[in-house]
Amino acid sequence: MNNIPLHVAFIMDGNGRWAAARGKARRAGHEAGAEAVRALIKNAEAAGIKFITLYAFSNENWQRPEGEIKDLMRLLSKSLDEFDKTSRENNARFLVSGRRDRLPPDVLKKIDKITAATAGNKGLTVILALNYGARQEITDAVNALMSAGKKNVTEDDISAALYNPAAPDPDLIIRTSGEERLSNFLLWQAAYSEFYFTPVLWPDFDKAELEKALAVYAARKRKFGNI
Ligand code: IPE
Ligand code: IPE
Ligand code: MG
Repeated sequence: MNNIPLHVAFIMDGNGRWAAARGKARRAGHEAGAEAVRALIKNAEAAGIKFITLYAFSNENWQRPEGEIKDLMRLLSKSLDEFDKTSRENNARFLVSGRRDRLPPDVLKKIDKITAATAGNKGLTVILALNYGARQEITDAVNALMSAGKKNVTEDDISAALYNPAAPDPDLIIRTSGEERLSNFLLWQAAYSEFYFTPVLWPDFDKAELEKALAVYAARKRKFGNI
């Protein structure tokens, strides 16, 4: 396919509804969602995408019941172990975007280990947006610039002070489950992103669905304010 986006960001929504539709606990939906991520990493690499960002847990998700948060953190910890193993074969690079506060110590330890171990990998870059909020990201960036003594900030200063300054802005943002909103995701970086909304629930977002989204993107004309 022509016109493959360099960076695709995913708002992985609908795990709970996927489970409810099967009479299962929400946890089962999150497990199926983690399966879908595993497949996505392979499919994105095969499609020629260089960066993916995965919205895994928002600042606002701390409002969920304690049991669900525990399930999500346990699942995350397990998924990190798997990523650690597979990244040796698939050469994927791992980065995290978000705040460190409130995350369990074992998760932080794994994140640091995998980030360091995969830093030189040249394959797909996988950015996990975890404990992430875009307004907080921008606020943190402005505070960092003020602490550094900046009196006037430029757009480039703000871009450079975001959580992952080296990642290009996403060309395409995909949200599953029929919701059509950003939910505090990449507000700064999304200035000229293309959007793709699908009613498909995240656990069902497979290779064919990714290909559909990429075909829609390929047919878009991006103008960036020009004619
Ligand atoms: C997305 O699925 C996963 C997270 C936000 C952690 P949801 O858990 O939001 O699923 P729905 O929206 O309830 O179906
Ligand atoms: C957005 O999904 C956050 C993630 C996918 C991690 P939510 O399910 O939390 O979003 P809202 O509450 O429906 O906007
Ligand atoms: Mg949701």
